[in-house]
Amino acid sequence: MDQYVVFGNPIGHSKSPLIHRLFADQTGQQLEYNTLLAPLDDFSMCAQGFFKQGLGANVTVPFKEEAYRLVDSLTPRAKRAGAVNTLSKLADGSLQGDNTDGAGLVRDLTVNAGVQLSGKRILLLGAGGAVRGVLEPLLAQNPASLVIANRTVEKAEQLAREFADLGPVAASGFSWLQEPVDLIINATSASLAGELPPIAASLIEPGKTVCYDMMYGKEPTPFCRWASEHQAAKVLDGLGMLAEQAAEAFFIWRGVRPDTGPVLDELRRQLARG
Ligand code: ATR
Repeated sequence: MDQYVVFGNPIGHSKSPLIHRLFADQTGQQLEYNTLLAPLDDFSMCAQGFFKQGLGANVTVPFKEEAYRLVDSLTPRAKRAGAVNTLSKLADGSLQGDNTDGAGLVRDLTVNAGVQLSGKRILLLGAGGAVRGVLEPLLAQNPASLVIANRTVEKAEQLAREFADLGPVAASGFSWLQEPVDLIINATSASLAGELPPIAASLIEPGKTVCYDMMYGKEPTPFCRWASEHQAAKVLDGLGMLAEQAAEAFFIWRGVRPDTGPVLDELRRQLARG
């Protein structure tokens, strides 16, 4: 049977095996997909060992940058992202790295939530790996503006400089922003600590601004709660992005695009059960 895994550390709670098994059932593809706990100091040996047999892998925290350095070739979007979340063994035996996170976010927003990004004012909170991974696909949607706001402003400025050739991107501190925007995407890890980036409520125009948290959980994240309290038009969490980045990886490996709708419903049911 064709072998696939997701590498991470920790990896026990990954939803990727469930997602890919549901995709395989739905599309009639014969494959096995498991978790693989890679040692923190030995990802590359672990990956090379797996690919003696395996055909493809996803990569999650903390190995996405290491995977970027390991591969023989990179897709243009992985190169821009500076990180790899999808590995594929090509016909010549070489290893290719791709990054489907940004495509997953854009598809969740535009297809699943029906939010058009062209001509819109987008605010991205954070300036870490999660932001770097989605900048190119977001700018490809031709927003009117894309502001990266971060606690450490220099990191936002660095990213804005690096992606300036792709569109109207600027950097900011959190407290400098007051005017409403069309879309706010939280890509900070503040939710992990139960915190919220300190941004003004005036950034939300009630009934118009869409708020998206790349994180998700059983309960709404602090950012999603804040967005609901200030009457955001839509409040979305990152579960759809998770399903969509997986669907994009599945498509790369198998040439078939699964329907994420029923899979997302199942993920939502399981999350509610805890
Ligand atoms: P990831 O790969 O998930 O992006 P990261 O590279 O560690 O992780 O980046 C974490 C991001 O969350 C950073 O933008 C960080 O801000 P700093 O660059 O100033 O460190 C942001 N972040 C983490 N905790 C935060 C908090 N409590 N409030 C606001 N921003 C926070």
